[in-house]
Amino acid sequence: MEQLRLAVVGAGNIADLNVAGYLAHPRCDVVAVCDVEPGLARAAADRWGVSRVYTDLDQLLAQDDVDAVEVLTPTHLHHAHALDALDAGKHVSVQKPMANTVDEAFEMELAATKADRMLRISECMVHYPPLVLAKQLIADGAIGRPTGLRIKTVVGQTESDFTHNLRAEGYGWRLDDRSPGGHLFDDMVHKYAVALWLFDQDIVSVQAVVRRRDLFFEPCSAIFEYGDPDLLGTMDVHYAPGMWMRSTYYGADEFFEIQGDEGLIWVTRATGEMLDLAPVVLHRGTAQSLSTTEFTDLDSSFLAGFEGSATHFVDCLLDGTAPRMTPADAAKVLQLCFAVYQASDTRLPVDPRTITGVVSPSGWADW
Ligand SMILES: NC(=O)c1ccc[n+]([C@@H]2O[C@H](COP(=O)([O-])OP(=O)(O)OC[C@H]3O[C@@H](n4cnc5c(N)ncnc54)[C@H](O)[C@@H]3O)[C@@H](O)[C@H]2O)c1
Repeated sequence: MEQLRLAVVGAGNIADLNVAGYLAHPRCDVVAVCDVEPGLARAAADRWGVSRVYTDLDQLLAQDDVDAVEVLTPTHLHHAHALDALDAGKHVSVQKPMANTVDEAFEMELAATKADRMLRISECMVHYPPLVLAKQLIADGAIGRPTGLRIKTVVGQTESDFTHNLRAEGYGWRLDDRSPGGHLFDDMVHKYAVALWLFDQDIVSVQAVVRRRDLFFEPCSAIFEYGDPDLLGTMDVHYAPGMWMRSTYYGADEFFEIQGDEGLIWVTRATGEMLDLAPVVLHRGTAQSLSTTEFTDLDSSFLAGFEGSATHFVDCLLDGTAPRMTPADAAKVLQLCFAVYQASDTRLPVDPRTITGVVSPSGWADW
């Protein structure tokens, strides 16, 4: 295959960010759009310069001139849509969270193996240039041996065209029993993915306290123990509805601190642009010299992670290379997510690898 013919399934709130990288890729043609809402599908097709529009997934999947699909439908539909697409012989990129349960994730992995098609999970944060640089710096030994990770997420408010244009219909399925949990499931999966991918290491024990706030927000503090007993992680999630921040997209931002025994890395943003700091800062200190390097010459826009993720899928398929986030990786992300809920529900440490199904925060069904 020299040129990938890709169809987009789901033209909702996040579709434009995900499709930008496919539209720009010289070896990819976006050939069709499918959404059950005809108006959304047509409008997206017009924006992207795509001529073919479908409102029925089966009809789209019956087309021989579609090699792969990007699944951008609500999360509870990922399992069925990925299985249908694999069954029809398509390669599949599916958005995070991969599925609603770990069992479903394993079933999707098996289906891809049987169909001999690629199934990769689109996770923009593992393609976000500042985090990619941080991972490279860790691998290069820039901070010595990693000993700690601290991930902070804050959800506040912003004034952006993006938030003004979000369709409220895109939120209903996140707030009821079609989702196994709230914000920690919907958004923190990005950060769980980063916590695992940065060190290519399993997390073997989780402790956590999860609270509830308006809508589906879940303030949380969690502690992660990695396989390497010298490496610990912490994750804090805060909800600050009275705090405004700069952002081109959602009113939220992140801060990642990676400690090593010889240095320290800060990644000071991801979703937003809250702080006037370089996106990546490296402090190295030895008895002989101290240095602080600010990395500013990289694309730190939230969009860059989405573009990188789309580009990567095309390149993996055409070059025959393995995707950065495999089904097995994404299943571990789900296990970590559910381990946080379980640890909070029971106030006991949980080994994420023991989770095979789904765990909701206590009382989630009554929200
Ligand atoms: N990477 C990120 O940062 C990020 C951000 C937001 C959302 N997401 C993920 O993207 C996915 C979509 O999120 P969203 O916010 O765009 O939701 P959304 O509800 O706005 O969009 C989903 C779209 O899928 C369509 N759809 C539903 N059933 C369909 C079917 N059977 N066939 C075709 N289309 C169908 C809906 O009409 C809707 O337009 C979710 O899995 C979400 O977790 C990722």
